[in-house]
Amino acid sequence: MKQGMLTVIAQQEIAPNIFELILQGELVKAMEKPGQFLHILVPQKDLLLRRPISINQFNRENLTCHLIYRVEGQGTKAFTQLLPGDKVDCLGPLGNGFDISALKAGDIAYIIGGGIGVPPLYELSRQLVKKGITPIHFLGFAKKEVVYYAEKFQALGESLFATDDGSFGMKGNVSHLLEERTKESPAAVFACGNNGMLKMVDAKYQNHPNAQISMEARMACGVGACYGCVCHVKNEPTKSVKVCDEGPIFKTGVIVL
Ligand code: FAD
Ligand code: FES
Repeated sequence: MKQGMLTVIAQQEIAPNIFELILQGELVKAMEKPGQFLHILVPQKDLLLRRPISINQFNRENLTCHLIYRVEGQGTKAFTQLLPGDKVDCLGPLGNGFDISALKAGDIAYIIGGGIGVPPLYELSRQLVKKGITPIHFLGFAKKEVVYYAEKFQALGESLFATDDGSFGMKGNVSHLLEERTKESPAAVFACGNNGMLKMVDAKYQNHPNAQISMEARMACGVGACYGCVCHVKNEPTKSVKVCDEGPIFKTGVIVL
C-alpha cells in the first residue's frame, strides 16, 4: 500500500462548487494508468474515513497531479479549505485503471463522461493521444454553468457536448449524442459517470470486445480489506467484486448496475 503526503500547489473553483486541486509529491512517481484514484484523509479530525477522488491528470516530471471534485458533503467541503503549502495525506494510486494496452495507433476510442465522472477521462484521453489513438469525447453536464474542461478536451480531439437544458451543446444527455453518431465503429469505449449513464453504456456496448466502465461505490479502507465497496456480478448471484481494488474499472456486461 502506498501512502504519502502531497503538498497543495494550488486550488481553484473552476465551476460553481467544482474545484481543481493541484498536488505535488513523491507519490506521483507511482501514477501510471488513467482511471486510478487517491484515497484522501479529510483535513478535519472528526471525519475518519478517507474520500476517494480520481486522478484527473499527472505529470511525473514535476511530480504534480490534479484532482477535480464537486462539493457534496462535509468531506469535500473540508477540501475546499486547503491552501498552497498544506499537506494532504493520500493513499494511492489505487484501483486498476483503464486498460488501453490493446489499442494501437490509428484506432478510434469513444470516451463517454457525465458530470463529475468527467475528470479521470482527461488523463485517459491524453494517454490515448500519445499512443496515436483518436479519441472522440461525448460529455454530458446539467447546464452550461457547470461545464468544465471543455476546451481541454477539444484540444485533444473531437468533442460533443450535451446539457439537460440545451444551454451548451445538444439538449439532452450523452445517450442522445451516441444515438446520432453512427459513422464509425470504435475500437474501444470508455465511460465514467452516474449510474444511469453507466447502465446505458453497459447495455449499448455489452457485447463490445473492449468497452470499460468506471464504477463508483462508497468506500472505507480503499484497499480491499473491508468489503465495504462490493458490487454484484451478473448471472452469478453468489459472486461479488470489490470496486476499490478489483475496479473501479470493469468490462461492460459484468457488473449488476
Ligand atoms: P458525504 O455524503 O458526507 O460522504 C459520506 C460518506 O459517503 C463518505 O465516506 C464518502 O466517501 C461516501 N460517499 C458519498 N458519496 C459518495 C460517492 N458518490 N462515491 C463514493 N463514496 C461516496 N467525486 C468527485 O467529485 N471527483 C472525482 O474525481 C471522484 N472520483 C471518484 C472515484 C472513485 C473511485 C469513487 C468511488 C468516488 C469518486 N468520487 C469523485 C465521489 C467522491 O468520493 C464523493 O463525492 C465523496 O466521497 C463525498 O464525500 P463527502 O464527505 O463530501 O460527502
Ligand atoms: Fe474496503 Fe473496498 S473499500 S474493500
